[in-house]
Amino acid sequence: MAKGPICRATGSIWGCWSMAYCAFCVLGTPCRLPASIPAETARTAPRHSASGKRMRFMRRRGLRCPDQPHDTAPMTQKLLEVTLSRVWQQTEEIRTFELSPTEGALPSFEAGAHIDIYTDVGPRPYSLCHLHVVDGPYVVGIKREPDGRGASRWLHDTCRVGHRLQIGPPRNNFRLAPQAAHHCLMAGGIGITPVLAMAKALWQRGSSFELVCFFRGRSHAPFLEEMRTAPWNQRVRFHFDDSPAHQVHLDDLCAAQPVGTHFYACGPAGFMAAVRQATRLRPPEQVHQESFSALPAAEKSGRTTFTVELARSGKTVLVEHGESLLQALRRAGHPPITSCEMGVCGSCVTRYLSGTPVHADAFLSADERLRELAICCAGSLSERLVLDL
Ligand code: FES
Repeated sequence: MAKGPICRATGSIWGCWSMAYCAFCVLGTPCRLPASIPAETARTAPRHSASGKRMRFMRRRGLRCPDQPHDTAPMTQKLLEVTLSRVWQQTEEIRTFELSPTEGALPSFEAGAHIDIYTDVGPRPYSLCHLHVVDGPYVVGIKREPDGRGASRWLHDTCRVGHRLQIGPPRNNFRLAPQAAHHCLMAGGIGITPVLAMAKALWQRGSSFELVCFFRGRSHAPFLEEMRTAPWNQRVRFHFDDSPAHQVHLDDLCAAQPVGTHFYACGPAGFMAAVRQATRLRPPEQVHQESFSALPAAEKSGRTTFTVELARSGKTVLVEHGESLLQALRRAGHPPITSCEMGVCGSCVTRYLSGTPVHADAFLSADERLRELAICCAGSLSERLVLDL
């Protein structure tokens, strides 16, 4: 058994008697639980619950925290501390997580917003599926992705009620149009989360809307009971892949909508491609999308090497063969804030001043692309790209 004090950040017994944090944390060197610590001690060591304190401790001293998400990323957005106050199962693979403020009230938000949850493998965006309540918690629905990058597995398998987490403030790239003759909400699978909040907001506003949910089957449908018992349940239709009695054809659905309808869609790549096809004749500003993934690789193109100029600092960075713009900026010590790193959350959107970028994100409009790019997935057609950084 450990005889000395245990590091508050990592549970390591390598701490000296005079410090609450071990020497390895203070030096910025990744420390590990020694193999001699009994398995039970290792499991209960307060590694994650103390990580927020540890990160602040390290930042105050200008040191890099060994397990800080995206350890080269600057933490310039103000993070909020929350406690996981409730978890409930929606389907076999989807759970709802309720996050309550540790202190004070959480910021307000509009339907369609998402938050970044800082997980063991970095920040990841998750949509809020409810309406803002003063002094209330945030609620997100999360699908466990066995083949994902690890965040959803960590949240499902490791996080338990009482766990403290850090989150970013709500951001919204998927807003309801303030005025529209009619709103047609379409959700594919777990894409229901922001769309559910939108349906609640439209009902509260007294707006004309309908919600169409596309699920593989009833057993894969989250929030089913909530939608069936909602006061607006007459506005909801379900498509189940496995039920011939519940089929909705996207082309027919979109074609039947009156002129002036605004369309909102969130779901996986195949579903979003079908929505784009079904709404191709509608004005682009009336079609609002939130994707889970950026454009397919085949749609990305551009130069394999190019130079990036950072206008504010006057630095130049060469994006080398086989390297992404994001990787090059990190290598050069100019890491942007990122979250999804797939072109869907908007965390890394930056203005560019000259050059011809190749856009591969899934949310910037044609107009926005004339002056902004998503660093995590953009390339360049021009030899030189000047960023407003
Ligand atoms: S990090 Fe999410 S869009 Fe770039």
